[in-house]
Amino acid sequence: MADGKKITPKKPVICAVFASGNGSNAENILRHAQSRGGGISIPLVICNKAGAPVIVRAEKLGVACKVIERAGTKSEQEAAILAALKEHDVEWIFLAGFMAILSPDFVAAYKDRIVNIHPSLLPQFPGKDGYGDAFRAEVPVSGVTLHYVDDGIDTGPVIAQKSFAREEGDTLETFRARGMELEYALYREFIDILAQRAAA
Ligand code: GAR
Repeated sequence: MADGKKITPKKPVICAVFASGNGSNAENILRHAQSRGGGISIPLVICNKAGAPVIVRAEKLGVACKVIERAGTKSEQEAAILAALKEHDVEWIFLAGFMAILSPDFVAAYKDRIVNIHPSLLPQFPGKDGYGDAFRAEVPVSGVTLHYVDDGIDTGPVIAQKSFAREEGDTLETFRARGMELEYALYREFIDILAQRAAA
């Protein structure tokens, strides 16, 4: 610079994605963070199920996926997860189809920095099968929720929701597919907000 002042680039927010299965949300999150070219860095995916498709998805995008299954107690498993997060200086956690309940101690360690995507308009249809429960209940409008994680199951403060209508002739698959697109959009928007906040 002409005046000799150095411009220090802002440090990216370091995040990890937690997933248990297919990992389409995880892939969407990683691709979006990478395509931004700054602001958010996601060096790590944590998976609690050996052989889950998310492992290959992460590796294809050049992101380390650490598989930490529960072998002994939950607190041992969570200690191993916390150690992996520490190794990468992780600040925020994005749950993306992570089908395990984090303990209050774990949640306290990342207080207000754990975010979850849930496939219903919470507080409706919490639990493991949001799309299935909403579909079988024949609600005319369903949706998806991005929320902070607290000690309850799908009870934390809502960040944002998007809704969609059930259409005539919908099957559970078409219904779910419409919702998934909204899940991806919610996480992309949240990543942008987090990155912009860090750059401000
Ligand atoms: C997504 O629909 C996500 O909202 C849901 O699991 C699916 C994972 O899909 N999560 C929950 O139900 C959490 N209670 P993906 O592995 O393809 O991202």
